[in-house]
Amino acid sequence: MLFTVGLLVIGCVAASVSGFGADVVLSCFLVEEGEGMGGVGGMGGGSLFSRTPATLVLRDLPTTPDLSPDTITPYNPPKNPDPENLIFEAKATSLEIPEADQLLHADCNEQEVTCEISQYFPQGAQKSTDPAYFMGSVQLEGGGISLTLVLQTISLENEGETSTASPLIQSKLNLPLSQSGTLLIEVAFLVFSQTQSVTTPIGGDAVLDCGFKLQDPPPVEEMVLEWRLQHRGSGRRVLEMKVVKTEEEPIVVVETEGSSVDPALALRERNVSLSLRQLKTSDEGTYICTVSSGLFQAQQVVQLHIIQAPRVSLSVDKVMSRHELPQRVSCHCERYYPLDVKVEWFALPPAVSEPISLSKDVSLSSHRQYGDGTFSISSHLILNHSLYPPGTNITCHVSHLSMDTPVALSFTVTAPEPGSSYLMVLGLLAASALFLYQLLR
Ligand SMILES: *[C@@H]1O[C@H](CO)[C@@H](O)[C@H](O)[C@H]1NC(C)=O
Ligand SMILES: *[C@@H]1O[C@H](CO)[C@@H](O)[C@H](O)[C@H]1NC(C)=O
Ligand SMILES: *[C@@H]1O[C@H](CO)[C@@H](O)[C@H](O)[C@H]1NC(C)=O
Repeated sequence: MLFTVGLLVIGCVAASVSGFGADVVLSCFLVEEGEGMGGVGGMGGGSLFSRTPATLVLRDLPTTPDLSPDTITPYNPPKNPDPENLIFEAKATSLEIPEADQLLHADCNEQEVTCEISQYFPQGAQKSTDPAYFMGSVQLEGGGISLTLVLQTISLENEGETSTASPLIQSKLNLPLSQSGTLLIEVAFLVFSQTQSVTTPIGGDAVLDCGFKLQDPPPVEEMVLEWRLQHRGSGRRVLEMKVVKTEEEPIVVVETEGSSVDPALALRERNVSLSLRQLKTSDEGTYICTVSSGLFQAQQVVQLHIIQAPRVSLSVDKVMSRHELPQRVSCHCERYYPLDVKVEWFALPPAVSEPISLSKDVSLSSHRQYGDGTFSISSHLILNHSLYPPGTNITCHVSHLSMDTPVALSFTVTAPEPGSSYLMVLGLLAASALFLYQLLR
């Protein structure tokens, strides 16, 4: 999963205390379009991107009291500045990094961080006079914070670096380095999300988290927000919001019924989270939050999964045959989503200690799909009474994404009543997991 398009990289976080805050040091990759770069491609060699190891140092992030200074070593730039090194160093910025403590606490062994940096050319920026820009993408694997950072180089003079001696030039990017051999940058803009994936049942509501940070005071007041949904190759706009002037009401265009963004929260806290109501299976997909402000535009992606647990029941067919009744037992899984479900049968005859998995004599009905997108399916078991004597415990196990453990329904084959054939008594012992949803976060 980590290597899908050869774009994701496992990083490692080291935190250190310096001055009044803590430094976060991230192992990153500089990702460039591969043509003519001759660099190390991604997996499979056919990658269009070349990736060069780089480091992102975020200086002086606010510390939290539970951060023990004993466990961390201070970040020191390399002793001998090397023009080959790619070290992006962001001094304490006016722009607060949200959930910085998540990055500080991420431990190499327990939480992986992916970090990628690529060159960025904001629309309307004049290449000759403007600083150089980079787009950084930092994600905590397993559902934590995800940040998209616009990084902007800052001039060495402003940082009190001597301009008399000609500075080292970074060999790949052709940009001047600080005396300690780092590229001095600041975070100019960022878009973030605290949840990368949300799971809801049908009819439920969801909030897809997205926020942004600008330097204060913002260079421009204008802000445009767009939420889009991409699913199975097609896309649609869900909502758009335009802020032209801070004191005016934002213009909101809702294109998907039931979706909303709180304009007051957007203006006051730069929180542009999308609320969705009464979700349907067709609302599932990848939601993209794009925020544009001034020169910059950045995105976050939040996955919405619709998961509905099956209602599971057993039924005994009333089909009559000459000798035996009933013959067919059915396990029904109704109104679930998504499609994949696993139905297994087990038999535990009285004299046997381990249940026997039954695959013979089992047949599946075809799927039925309802108007709300949910599915139903039944699994049928033809019972051979000479193999499963009275007292045999027959169990149907249903596994689905919505449940941590399979639902198990069982019954016991009973002795035939005098004058009639076999009868079965349903010992309906439904496991409690029936309506538990496994929240994927
Ligand atoms: C936005 O507001 C919601 C509701 O108060 C909150 O749960 C969420 O964490 C906020 N998100 C951001 C990005 O500030
Ligand atoms: C039931 O099992 C017995 C023993 O294996 C076999 O001889 C018989 O043919 C089976 N009956 C049916 C209906 O499959
Ligand atoms: C059948 O076996 C399962 C586990 O193997 C058990 O939980 C269940 O109570 C049994 N059912 C009956 C009706 O004896």
